Amino acid sequence: MPLLENYALTHLNTFRIAVKAKLFIEIFSEAELSEIFSNPVVKENKLLILGGGSNMLFTKDYDGLVVKISIKGIGVKKDGNDVLVTAGAGEVWDSLVKYCVANGYAGIENLTLIPGTVGASPIQNIGAYGVEIKDVFESCTAFEMATGQIRTFSKADCEFAYRESVFKGKLKGQYIITSVTYRLSSIAKVQTHYGAINTELERRGITTPSIADVSEVVAAIRVSKLPDPSTIGNAGSFFKNPIVDQSVFDVLLSQFPDMPHYPAPDGRVKLAAGWLIEACTFKGVVEGNTGTWKNQALVLVNHGGATGQEVYRFSEKIINAVQQKFGVILEREVNMF
Ligand code: EPU
Repeated sequence: MPLLENYALTHLNTFRIAVKAKLFIEIFSEAELSEIFSNPVVKENKLLILGGGSNMLFTKDYDGLVVKISIKGIGVKKDGNDVLVTAGAGEVWDSLVKYCVANGYAGIENLTLIPGTVGASPIQNIGAYGVEIKDVFESCTAFEMATGQIRTFSKADCEFAYRESVFKGKLKGQYIITSVTYRLSSIAKVQTHYGAINTELERRGITTPSIADVSEVVAAIRVSKLPDPSTIGNAGSFFKNPIVDQSVFDVLLSQFPDMPHYPAPDGRVKLAAGWLIEACTFKGVVEGNTGTWKNQALVLVNHGGATGQEVYRFSEKIINAVQQKFGVILEREVNMF
C-alpha cells in the first residue's frame, strides 16, 4: 500500500476522535514491514504502530507516520489434546475467538467481543471474565525496529502482569508484533467462576456449558454493560483497576464496607475503578460531547464530535474526584497520543 499524506484516522480509532496523521501506511505482510523500515521516511518521522485502535485516545493530530498493521492469516497445529493456533497480528481479535469457538478450540471463549486485533492481545495482556491472554499464550513473533530482525518471544519473555507486558515496559517502542500463537485445547474446560457468567448460564437453564455457550453468555453480558464501539465511540475501560497495599485497603474497607475487591499478586488488593467512579456520582454523566457510560462508569464515551482534549479533561476530573474521596489515584488504561 502507498504512503498516504494527511490521512483521517477517525475510522481507525474506536473512540472515533476526528484527527489526522501527517503520514499513513497500511502493512499486510512482514515483507512490507521490512520494506517500509528500509525507507528513510521511518527515520525522519516519529512512529505510531496501530492495530485496532481500540485502546487509545488521540488528543491531537498525529505529526508523524502511522503504521497500521493488517497482517492476516490463521494457522492450526495439533499437539495431542492441545491446539496451537497462530494468527497474524492484524486479524480482528473477536473473529479469531469466533473461529476457535466454531472449531471447538477452548481457551479464549471468555474473551469474546473484546475489540482490537490479535497483535495487541499480548501487549496489554487483554483479559475479561476470569481469563487473561497469558493463560493461553504460547509465543509471538515480533519485528525489531532497530535491526529489522524477527524475534520469537516465549511466555516468560513477555513478563505478563495485569494489563502489562514487556512490550509496554522495558521494550516499549522497540518491536512490532507480527503474529501470536495461542495454546488452546480440544477438550473444553470452561471457566465460569466469574460471577456473572454462572448466573447467566443458570438463568438460561444451561448446566453443562459448551465453549459456545460461554462465548454467547459473555457476549450477552458485555452487550448489556458496555457501549458498542460501532455506534458509540469508546475504548473500553478507560482506567485500570487500582491495586493497593493491604494496609490501605483495610482503612478503605472500614469506611466503605461494600467496596468490591479482589486478591492481587504479592498480598495486595485490586479495587474496582468502576465502583469508585460511581461512588463519586460519575456514572452515566454527560459532559459536553463526552461522559461515562450509563451501565459501566469505567467506560468513557464519545457521544458524537468529542475531541480528545475534551475526553482527557473529563478523565482528569474523574481522577481528582476519586483521589479526593478515596485517596486512590486512577491510572489510565488507554494509551494517549
Ligand atoms: N461496578 C460498579 N459501578 C460501575 C462499574 C462497575 O459498581 O459503574 C462494580 C461492579 O458491580 C463490580 C465491579 O465494579 O462489583 C467490577 O465491575 P465489572 O465486573 O464490570 O468489571 P471491571 O473491573 O469494571 C474489568 C475489565 C474489563 C472486563 C471486565 C470483565 C479492567 C480495567 N477492566 O472491568 O475489561 O471486560 O472486568 O472481566 O480490568 C477493558 O479492559 O477494556 C475491559 C472492558
